[in-house]
Amino acid sequence: MKRVLVKKSASTTWRQRGGNLAGGKQPGGEVRFTLSGKRGRHPPGETLPEAALNAGVWIDSSCQQGVCGSCRVRLTGGAVDTEDAGGLAEDARAAGYVLACCSRPRGAVSAEA
Ligand code: FES
Repeated sequence: MKRVLVKKSASTTWRQRGGNLAGGKQPGGEVRFTLSGKRGRHPPGETLPEAALNAGVWIDSSCQQGVCGSCRVRLTGGAVDTEDAGGLAEDARAAGYVLACCSRPRGAVSAEA
């Protein structure tokens, strides 16, 4: 079983480390979607759904603010910086799920989508 690191800390959020909407300070990298078998590259600061869309993969979403939970995906590798608004239960988080709408990959990642 792969270990997945999900970074969520109010004191070290992506924006606080200097990220902005035009691009953050995390490295870009490869993104793989294990259910569809598609892959692509993401630039720094891109969200997981943006990376997915660029790779031809659709991730369902609704609120785009980390509240509804409809964009929940499980990371199978790599790490993301995430700033959700409580739309993910602790047991789901512990199982490796993230809310894609507010998750920005740090380097190479893979997700079930
Ligand atoms: S779209 Fe609602 S939590 Fe992501």
